[in-house]
Amino acid sequence: MRTMAHKRRNTILAVSGKGGVGKTTISALILKYLTLKRPLPNILVLDVDPDTNMPDVLGMRVDRAHTVGGIAHELREQIKKGKLKPNFNKASYLESKTFEIMIEEEEFDMIVMSKSEGTGCYCFINSAMSGIIDTLQDGYHYVVIDTAAGLEHFSRRTMKDLDHLFIVTDPSKMGLKTAKRIITMTTELEISVGNVHIIGNRFTPENESILRKYFENEGENVDVLGILPQDPEIQRLNLMGKSLLEIPIDNPLYQGIHDFMKLVNL
Ligand SMILES: Nc1ncnc2c1ncn2[C@@H]1O[C@H](COP(=O)(O)OP(=O)(O)OP(=O)(O)O)[C@@H](O)[C@H]1O
Ligand SMILES: [Mg+2]
Repeated sequence: MRTMAHKRRNTILAVSGKGGVGKTTISALILKYLTLKRPLPNILVLDVDPDTNMPDVLGMRVDRAHTVGGIAHELREQIKKGKLKPNFNKASYLESKTFEIMIEEEEFDMIVMSKSEGTGCYCFINSAMSGIIDTLQDGYHYVVIDTAAGLEHFSRRTMKDLDHLFIVTDPSKMGLKTAKRIITMTTELEISVGNVHIIGNRFTPENESILRKYFENEGENVDVLGILPQDPEIQRLNLMGKSLLEIPIDNPLYQGIHDFMKLVNL
């Protein structure tokens, strides 16, 4: 018999940072790390970037109809054309559609948000969708969220409270400044973040001390995990349309992620 007394405690991870710094790549490698755990945990991947990159790095094809943006668009069209009966239950329609568009792989499930098109505010749809996705996350041991560049996910609260926020920066002042702004936003907003981890991607060892110094006084829940190297294999896999999950476990970039995950007890 199932008891409802204890809701399963899950772990929600998100990857953030400036544009092009390696968020999607790092999300995919974190996913690889989690899929190698035994027993295999239940994993949900949320691609909340309107540009939808996660399927590309995982060697998957997802058409727009199979995204949250797609089903929201569809519903909007029906509303616009006045096609819905007055008693049509939009919330339960969206909920059942969300399950339909869920991509079920052997080792993880994935939901792709994609762009929401059109003008005008369909606030009802937006808030219904974030409610549905919030609830859905409870059924998984791990949720991995690949975010879009910038900060709007934090302000629009498209994310639930996070256990771990990984902020990626490249070796540039712009990357560092964006990372700092993200840290500031997480403290100003309602969303609660357990731990913030800074990752320097494509860094050379000589520059690691600059990274560490820059985030020296950010408070006790912010740590610099370390640096990841520039890696030729990543680009080759991506160009060939292969999944990053196929990267060998002795690849230096994957090794770096592996060590970071151990450091944060994941
Ligand atoms: N350590 C690395 N070594 C080599 N190439 C890398 C590395 N990290 C990322 N890349 C490459 O850099 C490009 C951008 O990476 P990625 O798409 O992961 O960044 P992003 O932050 O998700 O970008 P966006 O802001 O557009 O979503 C990709 O072509 C990726 O293969
Ligand atoms: Mg990306």
